[in-house]
Amino acid sequence: MPRYAPSALGHIPEHLGIERAPAGTAWVVLSRLGLAAGSRLLVLGGSGGVGLFLLQLAAAAGVVTIGVGRRAMHDQMIGLGAAACIDYVREDAARRTLTLVGGPVDAMADLTGGTLAAALPALRPVISHVLPLAAAAKAHRIPEGRHAGGKIVLDVTGS
Ligand SMILES: NC(=O)c1ccc[n+]([C@@H]2O[C@H](COP(=O)([O-])OP(=O)(O)OC[C@H]3O[C@@H](n4cnc5c(N)ncnc54)[C@H](OP(=O)(O)O)[C@@H]3O)[C@@H](O)[C@H]2O)c1
Repeated sequence: MPRYAPSALGHIPEHLGIERAPAGTAWVVLSRLGLAAGSRLLVLGGSGGVGLFLLQLAAAAGVVTIGVGRRAMHDQMIGLGAAACIDYVREDAARRTLTLVGGPVDAMADLTGGTLAAALPALRPVISHVLPLAAAAKAHRIPEGRHAGGKIVLDVTGS
């Protein structure tokens, strides 16, 4: 279960209710992109909870969207305002977009979390100490007074 800092949380506006809460996220995404009417927006994960709201909000703002999601969701995406859909299971979304639009899009929203997830294994952990659980008190003392130089790991496997 992910944990969030209180500053990263907010109340769901009463008029949205829990069912429409993802619309708030979609609204933030669209606002930050600042697209003018007629712009072209590629929505990766357009078939998801946030994506289906983003397609509707974008359509209301006159933004032309291409929704990327599995085939079974295409009719719904089109019904909610997508100008076209791409099936990420069978198609290369980037190539198909270029073919559909005849050039690059103006913006892309990635609601799949995929980019970051794919990058995580490539991140290098910086660990300064690996200590047994019995040395927990020492592990607490290391960062006191100076920078630890990396993460301190307590190895509980030998406990
Ligand atoms: N829901 C919220 O209120 C909320 C609030 C804040 C932040 N967020 C963040 O916003 C993001 C989206 O949330 P969500 O609730 O919309 O998630 P979701 O309902 O799981 O939607 C993700 C969608 O992405 C599709 N997808 C998966 N792999 C894809 C790929 N390679 N290319 C294109 N589409 C792909 C999924 O399709 P399949 O069904 O085929 O897998 C699914 O429809 C997440 O990162 C979430 O943490 C959500």
